[in-house]
Amino acid sequence: MRCSTLNLVHSARRGVRRVVIDTCSQSRNWREAMRDAMRAVALPVVVVTSSSPDPPFTRRGITCSSFTSKVSLDPPILSFSIQKPRIGHPSRFASLLRHSGRCAINVLGEHQAHLGTHFSLPTDTEDNQLSEISHFVHRGLPLLDDTIISFSCSVLKEVEAGTADLFLVQVEEIHTPSDVGSSASSEPNESNLISPTRSRPLLYHGSQYVKCS
Ligand SMILES: Cc1cc2nc3c(=O)[nH]c(=O)nc-3n(C[C@H](O)[C@H](O)[C@H](O)COP(=O)(O)O)c2cc1C
Repeated sequence: MRCSTLNLVHSARRGVRRVVIDTCSQSRNWREAMRDAMRAVALPVVVVTSSSPDPPFTRRGITCSSFTSKVSLDPPILSFSIQKPRIGHPSRFASLLRHSGRCAINVLGEHQAHLGTHFSLPTDTEDNQLSEISHFVHRGLPLLDDTIISFSCSVLKEVEAGTADLFLVQVEEIHTPSDVGSSASSEPNESNLISPTRSRPLLYHGSQYVKCS
């Protein structure tokens, strides 16, 4: 059984000292270390959106950096997690998602940090959160305009994962930049594939939004 929280490890080969933090320890130190560790990772920022299937068609979104691309390629499965409440009401977005069973995952570009902020602010009401946000509705799902890519998905499974609920979602449609924001949808072809030069994702790193460049 492991019992220490901190170990100093010296790698003779490269002369590098590393601190090893044991997450099985009862000490609380590792929780702070875990937060620090995740601050070191550059994460993509997505806004997951959904709509109630019945009138008044309430539309909401949640900013998520827990998005995992390519959980499975075939069938195409993505995931994200929603934190359970420590105090107060449960996630309003999670309640809506459980009701609708469908969502859109909108991958933000570096010009869209304001959307990351908008959808991370707590709201006191069940009101439509997208009323002043540029979006369009496709097959009942609200998709944000001008994202670098968006996915229409249906919920496959919800898994309890510690302090969060993990949602595994199956991709139904991929909306590339050329058809996101336009009513005309077309088959993917050479002209509407993503161009790496014009599609820089927004990242979250060190507790702030950063650009790729
Ligand atoms: C960059 C960033 C990433 C976030 N990632 C997540 C996430 O992956 N899961 C989550 O539950 N909350 C995440 N949050 C916090 C939620 O966006 C925020 O708590 C939101 O208000 C929850 O809305 P709700 O109460 O309607 O569910 C993130 C916030 C920011 C700023």
